[in-house]
Amino acid sequence: MERELREDLADRSKEVANALLFAFGTPNEPRWPEILVESEKYDALTDYKSLIRASGPVGRNFDLVEVGLYRKQCAQCHGITGDGFGPTAALLDPYPRDFRRGTFKFKNASYGARPSVEDLVQTITYGVPGTSMPAMANLKRSKHYADDITVLARYVRFLAIRGEVERELMMDTVRDLDENEVLFKLEQRETDPEAFRNNLSRINEVIVRVVDRWMLSEGVEEQHKRSPFSAFVVKHEFAKGDLSSDSEAMTEVLLQESMQRGRELFEGSIAACAQCHGKDGVGDPKWKDYDEWTKDWTIRAGINPAVRAEWKPLKPLGLLKPVAAAPRNLTLQAYRGVPATMALEDNALANSGSSQGKALTEEDATHPKHSKNNSRLAILRAVLNGIEGSPMPAAALAASTSGGLTDEQVMDLVRFVESLSSSAAAVAVPATSGLAVMGTDR
Ligand code: HEC
Ligand code: HEC
Repeated sequence: MERELREDLADRSKEVANALLFAFGTPNEPRWPEILVESEKYDALTDYKSLIRASGPVGRNFDLVEVGLYRKQCAQCHGITGDGFGPTAALLDPYPRDFRRGTFKFKNASYGARPSVEDLVQTITYGVPGTSMPAMANLKRSKHYADDITVLARYVRFLAIRGEVERELMMDTVRDLDENEVLFKLEQRETDPEAFRNNLSRINEVIVRVVDRWMLSEGVEEQHKRSPFSAFVVKHEFAKGDLSSDSEAMTEVLLQESMQRGRELFEGSIAACAQCHGKDGVGDPKWKDYDEWTKDWTIRAGINPAVRAEWKPLKPLGLLKPVAAAPRNLTLQAYRGVPATMALEDNALANSGSSQGKALTEEDATHPKHSKNNSRLAILRAVLNGIEGSPMPAAALAASTSGGLTDEQVMDLVRFVESLSSSAAAVAVPATSGLAVMGTDR
């Protein structure tokens, strides 16, 4: 913003920081903004139990309840404020998520919508296979720690909301203010209460706007069905998301025909998958597109991420070296999204975090996390909902666009994409380690 507005924004940043402190507290003593606590509408959102259990230093409180879960399990990668810049972040590829944009990749919610707590629970439980994001499934199986995952998911949501408010205060409000207008000054509460109230109501407007977006993805089943993926699963009655019977019931001839149609769609101009994933699904080694988190401070700020001399000066501000967001190699079957509709056996959770950095054994390859059904659901969801934040778009569907894909064509595609990896899955599938080469100067 300083580059764009050609203005020194140091004082404005301090005001924003103070406003955030006033509204959300500190990482040791977080709180929900008054405007939310006052309203019944937000009761389900503003529970204090999760805040207390997840925040602060690791330890036990006076009631001997374990606190500091986020710092214990997540902050080393995601950072104490959820900025994605924890001490280990620079060594990882992909980088840990920066929660502050409210953008999440893996969710049943639609492109552009916020994830539900259930979506976040799913990510935290199963991790993101093929990246350094670990699975916390063990917690879920433990009697004592079963709700730790929900507590963490709710805290991720808290950090994301706080981060989005910070961002929007800076991006929208500061842009509209005249130089001599005050955004937030705590002293005014005593010296000029009316001005204080006015300024606070402008900040509260931003808070409510951000929070209402998150509320839309919560609870009500109808809202959940709004995403193309959820609607598809419901329409075709994949009970508990069980897609596995679908292709098995087909004769070999029909299956081959379907996959052939899928191949044509994959390479054709409507689905256009090959444009990014390559005809053989391996991806393009010279790929030069970036994810939204990187574009945010490079391309959109007039900085070319491919030119070192352009981004280097911003590194001291805590930015990580731009790394291209490559299309997935679809022959590896290492799908990252594990949709929440699947039915999982409890023993399916065993060892779920342990495949990182190692080649998968034969046993791992039949591990339910990599089961046929989950692979199909991951492909189906990626096609229908897209992967927000990455270049992967949601497909155009016949239901909403003329010339878009019909349901049958979607399934043809899923079967074809699945076949790209099925021969590879029989042998050991190498998982990406998630660790970038050490010693690079990120
Ligand atoms: C060793 C590093 C590491 C640790 C520890 C870690 N994460 Fe992650 N996390 C990642 C990486 C890397 C990604 C990005 C994956 C991607 O983009 O595919 C990620 C992504 C996420 C996402 C976003 C997924 C999406 O849909 O975009 C959430 C939510 C998340 N982590 C929550 C947590 C929570 C909660 C904890 C603690 C219980 C945690 N993570 C611990 C590395 C880590
Ligand atoms: C504009 C480029 C682009 C197009 C077009 C595209 N993809 Fe992707 N795709 C990507 C990228 C980038 C990723 C990696 C996303 C991430 O960061 O996890 C990806 C990931 C995927 C995944 C992995 C999902 C997971 O859970 O890990 C599947 C499956 C996939 N794409 C299938 C398709 C299919 C099928 C099509 C055509 C309908 C398609 N893609 C079109 C860029 C693209």
